Amino acid sequence: MTERTSWRSAQELIEKHTGQITSARSVNEGYNSEIAVVINETTFVKGLRADHPRVWTQERERQINPHVCHVSAALLWSETSAGWDLNGFEFLDGHPATYLPGSHDLERIVAMVARWPSAPAGVEMKQAPLRWASYSDRADLFAGDCLSHTDWSPSNVLIVHGQARMLDWAWPTKGACWLDPACWIVWLIASGHTPEQAEARACELRTFATAPKEAVSAFAAAQAAMWEDIGEHAPHPGLAAAAANWAKYRSA
Ligand SMILES: Nc1ncnc2c1ncn2[C@@H]1O[C@H](COP(=O)(O)OP(=O)(O)O)[C@@H](O)[C@H]1O
Ligand SMILES: [Mg+2]
Repeated sequence: MTERTSWRSAQELIEKHTGQITSARSVNEGYNSEIAVVINETTFVKGLRADHPRVWTQERERQINPHVCHVSAALLWSETSAGWDLNGFEFLDGHPATYLPGSHDLERIVAMVARWPSAPAGVEMKQAPLRWASYSDRADLFAGDCLSHTDWSPSNVLIVHGQARMLDWAWPTKGACWLDPACWIVWLIASGHTPEQAEARACELRTFATAPKEAVSAFAAAQAAMWEDIGEHAPHPGLAAAAANWAKYRSA
């Protein structure tokens, strides 16, 4: 988790693109950006210092944005100077999704994922087998040609005019087509679903409904190992237990 910094330390750089700042609202949701601020109710600015160890995620978001902006927010401008790496996105006026059982946001999310683009050529991405290699000896089963977001924190899903939008494409990953629904399942269980209910929801997506069972079970075990390893640094206290619960259900 990265501490937020005042947007004022990058004010001049932001104003180069937005004009004079007449209103600025720092955003509390989210975990990784030093700057996360809504400017003039029109632009969402996300920034890391150029020497931040994860500054490469800013470039990843720039590269993937043209391919995902129809299900996300469009990138309006970028600024990499004076020690900052900033991305300015169109401001989306919405509210974070609710993952509680029965939430209408879940249907909206299924509709959004059904419109996911395929993995674009020429964009640098994490490779799923490598990403989870240290948590599974069957990580080869996670390989594939699909694009996955992988960070299913509800703070990354905004409901805008009744439609779900996926933000924060910092970790685009190439792998099996069922990976996103599988990552979502862990959050659904952490939000009150039983593993059976969570899988039923994910099965509304053909990619998950047709996923090889052995591969999904190996992925559930890898998620359990990963969230246990992340421990108290996890963005939600229930994730380790939720993933363990799912893995146990799959192996029963
Ligand atoms: N385009 C946008 N419009 C409105 N709010 C946004 C936009 N992008 C992100 N946010 C809000 O800012 C928060 C942090 O942004 P995010 O991209 O998730 O960064 P972080 O890396 O800090 O998690 C999100 O959880 C969301 O509430
Ligand atoms: Mg986020």
